[in-house]
Amino acid sequence: MCGIIGINSNKQVTASIINSLKKLEYRGYDSAGLATLSNGSINEIKTEGRVDKLEKSLLSQNIEGSIGIGHVRWATHGIPNSLNAHPHSSNNVSVVHNGIIENSTILKKFLIGKGHVFKSQTDTEVIVHLITEHLKTDSYVDAITKTLKSLHGSFALGILFKDEPDLIVGARRGSPLAVGYGPSENYLGSDSYALKSMTNKITYLNDGEFCFIKKDYVEFYNEEGIKINKKVLELSTDEKNYDKGEFKHFMAKEIEEQPLTVKNGIKEYIDSHNNDINIHNFPWKIEEISSITLIGCGTAYHSCLMAKYWFEELTSMEVNIDIASEFRYRKNRFKKDNLYVFVSQSGETADTYAALDLCNKNEMKTCAVVNVIESSIARDSKFILPIHCGTEIGVASTKAFLGQILILYIFALKIGVMKKDLDIKKFSEKLVELKKLPELIKETLLIDNKVQTIAGTFNEAKGSMYLGRGYSYPIALEGALKLKELSYIHAEGYPAGEMKHGPLALIEEGMPVVVLAPRDSYYKKTISNMQEVIARGAKVLLITNKSEDEVTSENIWETIEVESTNEDLLPFLLTIPLQKLAYYSALKKGFDIDKPRNLAKSVTVE
Ligand code: F6R
Repeated sequence: MCGIIGINSNKQVTASIINSLKKLEYRGYDSAGLATLSNGSINEIKTEGRVDKLEKSLLSQNIEGSIGIGHVRWATHGIPNSLNAHPHSSNNVSVVHNGIIENSTILKKFLIGKGHVFKSQTDTEVIVHLITEHLKTDSYVDAITKTLKSLHGSFALGILFKDEPDLIVGARRGSPLAVGYGPSENYLGSDSYALKSMTNKITYLNDGEFCFIKKDYVEFYNEEGIKINKKVLELSTDEKNYDKGEFKHFMAKEIEEQPLTVKNGIKEYIDSHNNDINIHNFPWKIEEISSITLIGCGTAYHSCLMAKYWFEELTSMEVNIDIASEFRYRKNRFKKDNLYVFVSQSGETADTYAALDLCNKNEMKTCAVVNVIESSIARDSKFILPIHCGTEIGVASTKAFLGQILILYIFALKIGVMKKDLDIKKFSEKLVELKKLPELIKETLLIDNKVQTIAGTFNEAKGSMYLGRGYSYPIALEGALKLKELSYIHAEGYPAGEMKHGPLALIEEGMPVVVLAPRDSYYKKTISNMQEVIARGAKVLLITNKSEDEVTSENIWETIEVESTNEDLLPFLLTIPLQKLAYYSALKKGFDIDKPRNLAKSVTVE
């Protein structure tokens, strides 16, 4: 959460900072601000809300400078107004911050005692005053080293100094930060995406490190303030993914891109020639692994739950799943023969990273299923399975979810065959079916008109439920999450068989209930559960797959049919109408689809 940019150049930087902040908005959009240095003073401008508003305010104020820092905020301490927006500045120092300072109350007391005056409710302001305090007696390197040592919590920082017209300091603990290199200018950014229009030469800071960004060079330091050398990475310069094209929203584009992203994933991992799965350089012998734990947050956690069904079906391994924010604080029994898999689109989610870090510290086997291969989770895992679905901009995850479950399915198949739990004939048949999936997704995407009409009814409801059994249960959870986050309608996903153990009490006349009942081995049971909710007045939207057999149940409000495939792959197709339902529901309500309220794309605070 929160996005940081810094530019040290010999040209004016305000327009480039605004440009980068627009790219960083997916990390937070509660407020925006920037600070530059000119004529020996810090100029600061901040607004509540989006970067567009900041850009408009800039028109009426003359903020110039060839060095500056900027920020988009996802509020943690203090309400999202312009006072709490970043940067925060004293006369001498200006700071942008991503993360949380856990000991800010104690530090604030100490600093007030020293005569410092605080303007905002944020935890960030203590950093400004601590640096200002240390600079009274220390060099810049010592002041930064001492300040960072006294901070508890997580942070990525960008710092500007009134008396140093050629210096931006960047520092990282827990939240990601990258340095970029340009011609006679250098940059600081929360991620390479923000810097990509300016450079493809990047260095990532590791935890505890800080850097001094000068116009012509960059110096790196470890947490003791000792100079270190770091590698410069060259990233691909492909930007075409970042354009909405003919679509109204990134989310619509990303939903429609799914046949292609699944096709790309299949191309990357399936060796059609040898009818096999390519998972190169897997660092362990298969006999060394007898169980697996899949860990993630939100949609990524739903991918883990989906994978649990497949791993249990296709392999003999014990399979556990966990929500990262729970895993990181529980008393885990670490097992050497367990593979810990971390699922994350961004690869920067703080809780997932902390869970990975815990496993690494306990010398466990760690594997990342990520979209952003330059991310912290990817870099610090012992093995990576990239999902290759391209940049996902919409805050609500769509194509990354299908990308994650695709790679997890492929991984389950491979482990099944490596462990000889899955015979070669079945394995080959499943690969044949899998290769047809992009075309089936494409066909299923053609359901728009019906979903648009149905979305209207959901919008009139107080709440709704999503029910599924077996392979459809994780998809019910994911569908409910999509509706909640986009249309702000209360929605709960439940295993269909659980309804009579309590939630059935919620069903009342006219309540929309989505029932996922594809013709799989759970079909008859789910249809019985569906009848139980219809009998209590629910308006059931049945989502099933095309079949010659008609659904025999009466009083179904609406039915949507997805294409047919084998039982393993139906979850991919069931996901499509649920994504569209959430999209059209939010569209009808006029909500901000790509940036739902209170959310951010990359959750780098715990
Ligand atoms: C929901 C959504 C979130 C993310 C979660 C984890 O649409 O996108 O629930 O799945 O914040 O994010 P990553 O996958 O980046 O670790």
